[in-house]
Amino acid sequence: MHGFESGNCRGRQKYLVLPPQNQNTIQRRKMPNLLIRNIKTLVQAEVAPRPLAKGADMANLPVLHDAYLLLENDRIAAFGPMTECPERADQTLDATGRMVFPSWCDSHTHIVFAATREEEFVDRIRGLSYEEIARRGGGILNSARRLRETSEDALFEGAWQRLQEVIGYGTGAIEIKSGYGLSVESELKMLRVIRRLKTVSPIPIKATFLGAHAIPTEYQDRRQEYVDLVVHQMIPQVAEAGLADYCDVFCDRGFFTVAETARILQAGLAHGLKPKIHANELDFSGGVQVGVAHGAISVDHLECAGAAEIEALLQGNTLPTLLPGCAFFLGIPYAPARQMIDAGLPVVLATDYNPGSAPSGRMALVVSLACIKMKMLPEEAINAATLNGARAMELEAEYGSIAVGKKANLFIARPLASVAQLPYSFGADPVETVVLHGRVWAG
Ligand code: NIG
Ligand code: FE
Repeated sequence: MHGFESGNCRGRQKYLVLPPQNQNTIQRRKMPNLLIRNIKTLVQAEVAPRPLAKGADMANLPVLHDAYLLLENDRIAAFGPMTECPERADQTLDATGRMVFPSWCDSHTHIVFAATREEEFVDRIRGLSYEEIARRGGGILNSARRLRETSEDALFEGAWQRLQEVIGYGTGAIEIKSGYGLSVESELKMLRVIRRLKTVSPIPIKATFLGAHAIPTEYQDRRQEYVDLVVHQMIPQVAEAGLADYCDVFCDRGFFTVAETARILQAGLAHGLKPKIHANELDFSGGVQVGVAHGAISVDHLECAGAAEIEALLQGNTLPTLLPGCAFFLGIPYAPARQMIDAGLPVVLATDYNPGSAPSGRMALVVSLACIKMKMLPEEAINAATLNGARAMELEAEYGSIAVGKKANLFIARPLASVAQLPYSFGADPVETVVLHGRVWAG
């Protein structure tokens, strides 16, 4: 295999493909360097890179005004004030009047799915709740029925479109879950789709096994047998095939209990899959505590969280990942981000892009919602959506900020008066130019 290849997907525009396995080749082959000049504000420019931002430090967003940024090969080579800008480079971009941000790191998505679910959206407008729809066999089970009858190629095509969509929104690293298969065969099918996405994606992807997303219809009266299937069949096969980085469980009222979650997480850990779970969306389910107790990378949702959950998080290294797009779309309470940050925690923001509870992959909107509905400061929200998001995928050494040596994944924003204008302009698309691995992404 060669380091760079020009790929295309069924007639879509050409793009640069950087398969992760080709990193060594890339190091050897010299690419033209790229200099971005006259940057109004270089955002999240770290001289001493932090592994994450927590508590009061979340409001610390280092910026450099009137700056240059030099990208060499696929990495950030240097940055500084324009007075010290290198005189020449192979390629130059002029960013006069524009800010440069590190790419968003979206650490929680479900972008492999067969069909959208707008009929349930209308049912909710008419008064049904998300849980009532789920109890009637809709929700996740609806997506599972559709996924099982959809070919692997068709699933790939849909997910690939969504991946390109979110890259255009400025996402430069992403996590993707299974969980709409709910059988050995269909969970493996979903994870193979994610593996295939990894081979063509210009951004890094982490894969999460979510076989315990819901009890499938055929196991409704024998849930114990389904948990056995997850533990004895799915996890060993997923691990054996190297199809997942993490193991997830939807630990919540009406889905999986704390005891079931503990069993599944232990099986995952025994097979090398670190936990990263859905918790406390619908109830004070104990999901946060069981996640922390098993050393989860993150516990995600947390709309139902209070002093006990915050205390549990303070005792461990598990990150609280908040998904305000879901709270917005379902009309449920928002997670207590302010209390978490004030208690000293490192909050993460992600989209939860999925057909049921958050059909949007736009990280900039998530950042706006975090500010508007959860009272996060713009600086806190941007840290949560970049550096802390990278940490929630264990990618913080290479992504999540503008630091020398990190991968050159970033976007040049449309003209903004200030950093705060990004979340202020809710719903707007702040992205003008996407740069991935040191090159302008043509999308
Ligand atoms: O993160 N809460 C569980 N899982 C997804 C929603 C799945 C769906 O409704 O399709 C979530 O919100
Ligand atoms: Fe989710």
